[in-house]
Amino acid sequence: MAGPRKLIAGNWKMNILAAEGQALAGAVGNYAASAGPLDCDLLVCPPATILHAVAEQLSDSPVAVGGQNCHAEPSGAFTGEISAAMLADVGATAVILGHSERRHGLGETDAMVQAKVSAVLNANLIAIVCIGETEAERDAGQTLAVLRNQLDGSLPSAASTEGMEELTEVNTVVAYEPVWAIGTGRTPTEAEIAVAHNHIRACLEKRIGSAADQIRLLYGGSMKPDNAASILLIDNVDGGLIGGASLNADDFCAIAAAAVS
Ligand code: PGA
Repeated sequence: MAGPRKLIAGNWKMNILAAEGQALAGAVGNYAASAGPLDCDLLVCPPATILHAVAEQLSDSPVAVGGQNCHAEPSGAFTGEISAAMLADVGATAVILGHSERRHGLGETDAMVQAKVSAVLNANLIAIVCIGETEAERDAGQTLAVLRNQLDGSLPSAASTEGMEELTEVNTVVAYEPVWAIGTGRTPTEAEIAVAHNHIRACLEKRIGSAADQIRLLYGGSMKPDNAASILLIDNVDGGLIGGASLNADDFCAIAAAAVS
């Protein structure tokens, strides 16, 4: 069976004010409109403050818009937080969850990520669930165990009674992002990426059977125009989660152009 259509997702992180966002979204939208039929799906994840404006701007474009995080509860007394339904309300169709900057910088645990994934799936949005080992874990030979534990702990429990949050190939994306590769200019070798992605696929298959073949597995961590084509050719790499290079329209579009499904 052919692999899933590739997804190139831009994570703008805590960057970009309204005017810059308009220019960046406009340039990505123009690329999508003028590049002919795209060979991949495109997603940009701006900060929540400009998500609505970016979604409006891209409403006639094939470029989808997503959030970078949400709260696990649908509403309530959670000052400063944003729910999945709120992101959906302003035009998001996906949400990045469990990014390493939240796990390692803000103390987000697997259990917290799992609750957020359920919230996102219950809001009928796509959950992009990030996992990845630290450099110390890689050096200690623990990479595959860490990935398996994070997957087990962060994806909704198969035994959950809440019903809506069953994993399916359409509502779940997993991003493999080695912590030490994020924003550093360093990447694993192609062989190391292949080992990690094959392992993630096997873990998902164990859990949901052959439907796992269609879950998109993104690579993230210093993906740039000059390494994108070779990374995107690796088996079981179904796209990229792009940080720094997504802030430059030319770079992001060059990565998109390298994604052939
Ligand atoms: P980077 O970030 O592309 O700047 O390494 C990737 C990410 O954090 O998702």
